[in-house]
Amino acid sequence: MIPFSLKVFFFKVWQFLLKLTTPLLRFRTPELFTGPGSSLVLCEHIAKTGVTNLLIVTDAMLVKIGLLNPIQEKLRALGIGITVYDGVLPNPTIAQIETGLTMLKSKGCTAILAIGGGSSIDAAKVIAARAKNPHKIVHMAGLMRVFFKPLPLYAVPTTAGTGSEVTIAAVVSDPSTTRKFAIMDPCLVPLAAALDGALMTGLPAPITAATGMDALTHAVEAYISHNQTEKTDIEALDATKLIMENLTEAVKNGSNVEARQNMALASFKAGVAFTTAGVGYVHAIAHNLGAYYHVPHGLANAIVLPRVLDLSKSHCTDRLARLAEVSGLKKGGESNAQLADAFIAKVRAMNADYGIPTQVDKLKEADIPAITDKALSEAHMFYAVPRYMDRPECQAFIRQMLPAGT
Ligand SMILES: NC(=O)c1ccc[n+]([C@@H]2O[C@H](COP(=O)([O-])OP(=O)(O)OC[C@H]3O[C@@H](n4cnc5c(N)ncnc54)[C@H](O)[C@@H]3O)[C@@H](O)[C@H]2O)c1
Ligand SMILES: [Fe+2]
Repeated sequence: MIPFSLKVFFFKVWQFLLKLTTPLLRFRTPELFTGPGSSLVLCEHIAKTGVTNLLIVTDAMLVKIGLLNPIQEKLRALGIGITVYDGVLPNPTIAQIETGLTMLKSKGCTAILAIGGGSSIDAAKVIAARAKNPHKIVHMAGLMRVFFKPLPLYAVPTTAGTGSEVTIAAVVSDPSTTRKFAIMDPCLVPLAAALDGALMTGLPAPITAATGMDALTHAVEAYISHNQTEKTDIEALDATKLIMENLTEAVKNGSNVEARQNMALASFKAGVAFTTAGVGYVHAIAHNLGAYYHVPHGLANAIVLPRVLDLSKSHCTDRLARLAEVSGLKKGGESNAQLADAFIAKVRAMNADYGIPTQVDKLKEADIPAITDKALSEAHMFYAVPRYMDRPECQAFIRQMLPAGT
């Protein structure tokens, strides 16, 4: 059997090679429109590109609350024909994406506008890719597996968030294998996006909290990743600062447009950071909690994050200390170890304040070995984590999240 230390050596070499190739991928960022009302400016931009027949990809809840109405009115006034696909659910599945693709084809749409959280934007990314690529969605899983350029794609995030409007990733659930996998390709980055905080004022407090903790997790995992760069550090620190200054206000006073706008920007910046630097064990485990038990993505991350930071602390103390500094936790005279602890305590305090639990209600002992294997294979293939776990340690780690009394 190969000793774990040797495996870790190979993981590190693999991650180093990935880091060397990253600059060759030439990540784009979307043309960006920001500020309350910017979603309508994006509509004008789309019209200028000559699009006349557009598929809107969204979820039924957003249609029901009328969030799309001003955007649809604007698009119609600009002479753009619209078809709305609102069949996306949280943690979108292959079947939901294929249904959207069928609608796109039957209506002859030539471009896509995603309006919604990460679920709608990810589904739209894959519909755009499938429209131009004959191979199955499962065969696009992993890095650089989208061979032909997708249909033109535009995005309006309504959560803050996944940062999907700027990332190379689309996360898809496959219920047939209880798997959640990522398709990662720079061609999936939307051509343009609008960060319109006014669209987020109706986002309920629990979703605001969970999606905000997702954005924080992106920033933190990117900042402590060994695949970080000078640029990803700047974006991750900016995002962390904005989240620490605005998330609690957005949760407690959802109608504060300024806090919403700042969170939208934080989510975007965290997306810029992690699309290059990657994420880590928090996401690898959270993806499986989503696949097995439909735990919302942000909620799963929020539960796992402080535990992964405890585990990784000794290997990234200085970086956690810097995160503490930008979070306003430095009073003066503390050691970096104390600051790192203060940052982790802050994350736990935010979770408690937002009513986020510490345990995963639906987690079952019997699923832990399979969840462990899937999480470790995702993490060791794609993420340059500061400290590695072997199988027994990861199983024990996940076991800590069993519901009380199990
Ligand atoms: N592509 C990426 O880079 C990336 C990164 C992280 C996560 N993800 C994926 O994104 C998905 C999660 O996305 P999410 O957390 O944004 O949530 P979501 O898109 O699943 O939406 C969550 C809920 O919030 C509601 N909602 C959204 N915006 C609203 C608004 N403005 N007002 C009222 N209700 C609103 C939706 O109707 C839905 O019920 C997961 O599948 C996750 O794996 C993708
Ligand atoms: Fe995430």
